[in-house]
Amino acid sequence: MGESGCGKSTLALSMIGLLPSPPAKVLEGSIVYKGTDLVKLKPKDLRSYRGTEIAMIFQEPLTSLNPVYKVGSQMAEAILIRESRSAGLDAADPEAIEDLHKPVRKKSKPVKPKRKLTPELRKEAMEALKLVRIADPEQVLERYPFELSGGMRQRVMIAMALSQRPKLLVADEPTTALDVTTQAQVLKLMKELITEVNTSIMLITHDLAVASQVADRVVVMYAGDVVEDAGVYDLFSKPLHPYTKGLLSCIPTGSKDDTKLMPIPGSVPDLVHPPVGCRYADRCPSAMDICRTKPPKLRDVGSGHKVSCFLYGE
Ligand SMILES: Nc1ncnc2c1ncn2[C@@H]1O[C@H](COP(=O)(O)OP(=O)(O)O)[C@@H](O)[C@H]1O
Ligand SMILES: [Mg+2]
Repeated sequence: MGESGCGKSTLALSMIGLLPSPPAKVLEGSIVYKGTDLVKLKPKDLRSYRGTEIAMIFQEPLTSLNPVYKVGSQMAEAILIRESRSAGLDAADPEAIEDLHKPVRKKSKPVKPKRKLTPELRKEAMEALKLVRIADPEQVLERYPFELSGGMRQRVMIAMALSQRPKLLVADEPTTALDVTTQAQVLKLMKELITEVNTSIMLITHDLAVASQVADRVVVMYAGDVVEDAGVYDLFSKPLHPYTKGLLSCIPTGSKDDTKLMPIPGSVPDLVHPPVGCRYADRCPSAMDICRTKPPKLRDVGSGHKVSCFLYGE
């Protein structure tokens, strides 16, 4: 969770090596997944994590679904990739995998031959669509992405991502482009799927309400850094970082006290030339001298509640 521009998508894309490089480079740190540092992997080895281990869905499914193919043939492609992988073929067509997990480029490649929906593929695609509560899967398979509503497209994306049977689904603002009612439905679906399909979800959101409804654990980012990391209950009932406190006091409660809604003064620092010390110091009501001289470290202050702030020790 973090406001727009704080680096959530950049972090998520770097996890599976999808940042365009150049110009992007991971200069420091590690991204440990099941004991493996993904940052250290060669692009070829990282590719084998994409989809089967970690799948990703984006805010606007229209940028990831291919506009010229019917939903059915795109789902067939996703299923075939999984199958060729589990058959040890290391995914016959690596480009096809890239396509699945990358927003469609403006300059599109020559159109590939369309995947035919064999009866088996159709059956599995229908099941995947049913899993995401699409009532008329038969018809949806025959539709082009633009013929579906935003909520339906997002469900199709989730179904495609899940048909890779990933262990981790990274969902980058999956409901931000949807209206409030549809957003609630998609969130409910994702929550249910966590228990149904044995997949963990890393949900990226700028919306505190969304985080509080869906998450077990919340990581708060500010200007490219993680500032707090805690169980959802602890985070919302006992926020520690001044930024998290600030964010929470910006939520209207619907009571008379709303006249005291406190916006956080100032603006987010430049990430290309970040400040030397704590990146929040300039906006922080509790800033001390030390905050402007060196960056605080993320530390555990008890029962897994982590915070990066000098108020809780050096
Ligand atoms: N770790 C980083 N180092 C340098 N620049 C960054 C970093 N994270 C984000 N940025 C810059 O900030 C911009 C916004 O980041 P983004 O990940 O899109 O934010 P969000 O998804 O939270 O809205 C990026 O386009 C990039 O220029
Ligand atoms: Mg983003």
